[in-house]
Amino acid sequence: MSNHNNTRIQEILSSFKLSSYVESITEMKDKILITLAPPKELITSLTPLAAKATEALNTSNQNYQIIFTNTNSKKVAGVEKIIIVASGKGGVGKSTIAFNLAISLAQMGKKVGIVDVDIYGPSLPSLSGISKKPVLENGLMLPHEKFGIKMMSVGFLVGAEDALIWRGPMTTKMLYQLIRLTNWGNLDYLIIDTPPGTGDVHLSLAENYEIDGAIMASSPQGLAVADVKRALTMLKKLDIPLIGIVENYSYILEANGKKNHLFGDSSASQKLAKAFKTKILAEIPISRELDEANSNARPLTYYKPKSEISLMFEKICKQFC
Ligand SMILES: Nc1ncnc2c1ncn2[C@@H]1O[C@H](COP(=O)(O)OP(=O)(O)OP(=O)(O)O)[C@@H](O)[C@H]1O
Ligand SMILES: [Mg+2]
Repeated sequence: MSNHNNTRIQEILSSFKLSSYVESITEMKDKILITLAPPKELITSLTPLAAKATEALNTSNQNYQIIFTNTNSKKVAGVEKIIIVASGKGGVGKSTIAFNLAISLAQMGKKVGIVDVDIYGPSLPSLSGISKKPVLENGLMLPHEKFGIKMMSVGFLVGAEDALIWRGPMTTKMLYQLIRLTNWGNLDYLIIDTPPGTGDVHLSLAENYEIDGAIMASSPQGLAVADVKRALTMLKKLDIPLIGIVENYSYILEANGKKNHLFGDSSASQKLAKAFKTKILAEIPISRELDEANSNARPLTYYKPKSEISLMFEKICKQFC
């Protein structure tokens, strides 16, 4: 864009008292796009001024468009921070990690909600032992409350057994319903348990919500590491800050107290963490106790908060809160 043109834009925006809100001016193929980012409460009063400024800017051979962007609008009412739990592939313990982290945060005195948006296989109904439909109040769903946390799951709405294939716009709608049409009250953290891999759900989350951090669930097998790498690359592309990696199924604790690293030690995960400038938040062993807790809807972090694995979840929380 020529200097002359730039000066003209600034002058016109200034005459409509809009110049201090300019976020970007981009020359596109068929128009010049100006984005303004004023405080949300000013948008209504600035809209007519933006329309007049557009009129003044437009000439016979140049087309301008002014739009408002506001990062606040990606926030969820009452929610301080959103953290997603993701994985490269299925079955690495994502839901187990998300659920126990939520409970662990609550035990540290935080106000916590968890939303399970895994449309292909929601886990929260079985992990929590709740399957009833949420109650509607003033047009919003009330999350279920148990174990000191608030919970919403796609499985509460449609039944965990129903196979679901929701794509594209349906995904965005489903997320809107689960996240924004739920009355969370005030939360310090909303944990989102996402489907395995990288797909529409992650894209839609990144586009429509301010995600404060991602925890990547991983396992030490070689093939899993390749999947994690793909998922980490995607998070980076979507500008989602990475909190760190939780390596699950890391080892078996033998009777003599020795760690048996069945799939090799965590050096592959360590290498990956280094490459993505992040850290390993915890190495969780294969544990019958944890699996049984899951199967019986008696979360380990809630019923045995001082067990070795519960303390690992506490340690993960302490690394980001
Ligand atoms: N450390 C562990 N030790 C033993 N069993 C575990 C461990 N972590 C998870 N499991 C069990 O492995 C199974 C898969 O865990 P989970 O459902 O949390 O994985 P997921 O990544 O969410 O799976 P999906 O991709 O299907 O959503 C569950 O039966 C769970 O109880
Ligand atoms: Mg899951």
